[in-house]
Amino acid sequence: MGFSERIERAIDRTFPATGLGGPARLDAALRHAVVPGGARIRPTILLSVAMACGDDRPALSDAAAVALELIHCASLVHDDLPCFDDADMRRGKPSVHRAFSQPLAVLTGDALIVKAFEVIAAAAPAAPERAVQLVGQLACRTGAPHGICAGQGWESEAEIDLSAYHKAKTGALFCAATQMGAIAAGQEADPWEELGARIGEAFQVADDLRDALCSAQELGKPVGQDDLHGRPSAVTRYGIDGALGRLDDILAGAIASIPSCRGEAALAQMVRLYADRIVPKAARARRAVPGE
Ligand code: IPE
Ligand code: IPE
Ligand code: MG
Ligand code: MG
Repeated sequence: MGFSERIERAIDRTFPATGLGGPARLDAALRHAVVPGGARIRPTILLSVAMACGDDRPALSDAAAVALELIHCASLVHDDLPCFDDADMRRGKPSVHRAFSQPLAVLTGDALIVKAFEVIAAAAPAAPERAVQLVGQLACRTGAPHGICAGQGWESEAEIDLSAYHKAKTGALFCAATQMGAIAAGQEADPWEELGARIGEAFQVADDLRDALCSAQELGKPVGQDDLHGRPSAVTRYGIDGALGRLDDILAGAIASIPSCRGEAALAQMVRLYADRIVPKAARARRAVPGE
């Protein structure tokens, strides 16, 4: 079974189309927030690392992958709320507060965060020590001072430290992806932090390029948000060509940082494929005609 099928099956088991048996509108809002998904890039990286490390507890890897994606989905639901980015669209459909209501969007985000830890707890009996580490890792990458909450918190500061902001807002869940993949397969987490951090940095630069160069229709969410909210981004700071150059350097560093393991070559190939996918088409065209 491929990674994508593993991820979708595990998510369907967690949030079946028939609902969880709770309040019907909240059940529907939860499913709306997670299915259909976006690129599912974080759980894919997590499973790729688990596989490179042997993946000897696949059910635990699946649980970790779902948990990570649920935290990501929760962050998007809260991020779209009027008190944050006030976005009407997400993944090509109305954001949760637009489709349901603000109270239900707050509850949906909360319930997804809690469900993430419940999913790991349910898979814990097969490897309790690994599960405890997974919980610790995911909690650290979700909250403050190092997680998404801290990242979003930077937006309320008078001066934003761009590097700390990006590391916490976006990088945290990519570090979680590589480190949780290693933990689920019984390996040390620390050697995998650098790969996650570098992929996260590349993703953020690519996201800034998409925000500047793509249409809302292409992305399924509002664009031009960095300018609109006066937020620092790699494009405002380095220009488009400068941002593209940074992207190449970061990805080369990511590949060089892969710890030696059984699946090292396959993982390097995954990062190369990912690198091709995240660069927006408009930026690829610029690369083909240097100087324009
Ligand atoms: C969007 O992440 C939010 C950021 C961290 C910039 P993705 O681009 O991975 O969103 P989906 O999951 O594919 O919709
Ligand atoms: C998304 O961040 C949410 C988090 C990473 C917490 P952004 O606001 O930068 O991304 P989009 O454009 O809404 O996906
Ligand atoms: Mg935001
Ligand atoms: Mg946003």
